Amino acid sequence: MKNKKITRKISQGVYVLTTAGGGCVVDAVSQISAGDNPLISVAVMKKNYTNELLHKNDKFALSVMGIEVNVEIIKTFGMNSMRDINKFENIQTIEVEGVPVIEDSLGYMVCEIIDKIENETHTLFIGKLIEADLYEDSDVMTYAYYQEHKDELLKVTTEEGKTAWVCTVCGYVYYGEELPDDFKCPLCGVGKDLFELKNN
Ligand SMILES: Cc1cc2nc3c(=O)[nH]c(=O)nc-3n(C[C@H](O)[C@H](O)[C@H](O)COP(=O)(O)O)c2cc1C
Repeated sequence: MKNKKITRKISQGVYVLTTAGGGCVVDAVSQISAGDNPLISVAVMKKNYTNELLHKNDKFALSVMGIEVNVEIIKTFGMNSMRDINKFENIQTIEVEGVPVIEDSLGYMVCEIIDKIENETHTLFIGKLIEADLYEDSDVMTYAYYQEHKDELLKVTTEEGKTAWVCTVCGYVYYGEELPDDFKCPLCGVGKDLFELKNN
């Protein structure tokens, strides 16, 4: 591929996807139909604990992040696994239709899972909207905004004089001349192609 970064021009937002027992940050969300109960899809990596939960549960919620979001929400849900920590310990949620939704957000959408499409790395979950609320009509955090402001939001720094590879999704820093071909980000799980070289 000549330059995969063009895919970032597809407008996407930043959401916390939750379901009973866990959740994670996602950007791969699309509204795929309109009407009273629109269909919404979300692609979730198979290695994520949230994927396991979504195969057991029948609902998910998407909480919409605004640009003023408390970055701890993104760090907690996007850079940790519920396999290792309790993500709900320090982040306030309320329960809607049996699904925890993030209080500090612009609002939420709760969907009933009606279909799943499996591929090698991800499952595409398709949900029918059954409940939604808008708390605050202010600017959403687009994925493009997140990418542009990620370093200051996440306070990513790299050590002087060292060759660093920085994950363009979560800001994880790997030191070394080359990234192994099968390297996966230990924080957010993406592959080598989503790392950028930083030479200080
Ligand atoms: C900005 C951002 C966007 C992300 N987008 C997705 C996504 O669309 N799909 C996905 O499966 N993971 C995505 N992730 C990674 C998951 O949030 C991350 O792997 C999380 O730690 C999984 O937690 P879990 O094991 O508790 O499910 C994203 C992370 C960040 C920081």
